[in-house]
Amino acid sequence: MALQQYLETHKERFLNELLDLLRIPSVSADPAFKNDVAKTAEFVKDNLIAAGADNVEVCPTNGHPIVYADKIIDPTLPTILVYGHYDVQPADPIELWDSGPFDPIIKKTDVHPDGAIFARGACDDKGQAFMHIKAFEGMLATDSLPCNVKFMIEGEEEVGSVHLGQFCNDNKERLSCDMILVSDTSIIANDTPSITVGLRGLSYIEVEVIGPNRDLHSGVYGGAVANPINVLAKMIASLQDEDNKITIPGFYDDVAIVTDQERAEMNKAPFDIEHYKKDLVIGDVHGEKGYTTIERASIRPTLDCNGIWGGYIGEGAKTVLPSKAFAKISMRLVPNQSSDVITELFKKHFESIAPDSVQVIVRPHHGGEAAVTPTDTPEYQAAYKAMQKTYGKNPLPARGGGSIPIVALFEKVLGVKTVLMGFGLNSDDIHSPNEHYGLFNFYKGIETIPYFYKYYTELKSK
Ligand code: BES
Ligand code: MN
Ligand code: MN
Repeated sequence: MALQQYLETHKERFLNELLDLLRIPSVSADPAFKNDVAKTAEFVKDNLIAAGADNVEVCPTNGHPIVYADKIIDPTLPTILVYGHYDVQPADPIELWDSGPFDPIIKKTDVHPDGAIFARGACDDKGQAFMHIKAFEGMLATDSLPCNVKFMIEGEEEVGSVHLGQFCNDNKERLSCDMILVSDTSIIANDTPSITVGLRGLSYIEVEVIGPNRDLHSGVYGGAVANPINVLAKMIASLQDEDNKITIPGFYDDVAIVTDQERAEMNKAPFDIEHYKKDLVIGDVHGEKGYTTIERASIRPTLDCNGIWGGYIGEGAKTVLPSKAFAKISMRLVPNQSSDVITELFKKHFESIAPDSVQVIVRPHHGGEAAVTPTDTPEYQAAYKAMQKTYGKNPLPARGGGSIPIVALFEKVLGVKTVLMGFGLNSDDIHSPNEHYGLFNFYKGIETIPYFYKYYTELKSK
């Protein structure tokens, strides 16, 4: 049977298997889900075995396990290493979901008239990683796998891939390959395919501001003792100036300058700012002076407060001057900035701006480096040709604003380049309530991947 026909015949089953995968709540951040994360690894393993992979193994780490598998048909042929993640973000706030985050349902939307799967992880990244297993199954079943393939599907991407670097180091031989193929990013639109050519880095920090040694009556002490929440709010606000530039000394020192030509090029990508505002129900966009929205969300570094808490947040009013306030702050970094350096600069600066009336503790979380992927490589060309074939349009190169810290590490540890051939949409609400993934996107991915294999093998053997 021909591959296209095989994929068509087994469409329903592919979808049902993905729905089963989405039913397991593999939230890596929350220890309460540890068993479910392990169960998900087993599911991925069983699915790879059923697809016909060899050496399928759930590899334990000091955190969540990594699923490895391969199919070596001829050692003289190129080897593609497929990377993905089976862990997902927490579903909170659960009350904002229209249906259960782990009870996948299919609904039509304006953007996805053929229907979309609503569930945590549908797009990021279970749905996208699963396309690779199904494409592989199809190629094997129809005797059309043109090269060797290895799979590395991890369970800690959403918590910073903390144990993956060690795993790569310990398994250099087993993971040796010619390139890494990742579907964990987005395209511009379903009628505008694109290939991600850059990712931002990340520095993630938690801060604690400590005022008086105990909660106080806000009438008896208010006005005379520093309120840590007020102080924290002021400190955070001061981290950006009126042009929305970050005020941490040295923050921009290492930022790689993008040429005017490159900027002009990226701003040609289809982007409707009115639609953007309407979709998000915002009166206006916001950001660093001198840059467009596309640039602000890709080639420029940022600083955002991800969460802030302290004091009384229950029903009604309680007059209290709280003893402590907390915040989680992330900085998105661009090529050439170092996550460790930025974390250190932040720490020094944040401690230095604290008034004597409070104490400040800065706790660094995970980080990661930015990445840029070149376009003059056989792997990029193969992705280009594959998307051109299945979308009937030339894909555009696009920088992504998110982070996949392991991409920089792959290059460093394994010495290989990555291709970011994702199929999601930025409007798919990843990390948000009602995350979804279009059926069109799911099937388009499965259809495109085998072309990637074919073109890559052809280009490499030239
Ligand atoms: N798949 C995303 C990254 C992504 C999404 C890149 C869309 C480009 C476009 C990934 O799962 C993710 O969410 N990464 C985290 C970083 C991690 C260290 C927690 C992120 O970007 O916040
Ligand atoms: Mn992801
Ligand atoms: Mn994610």
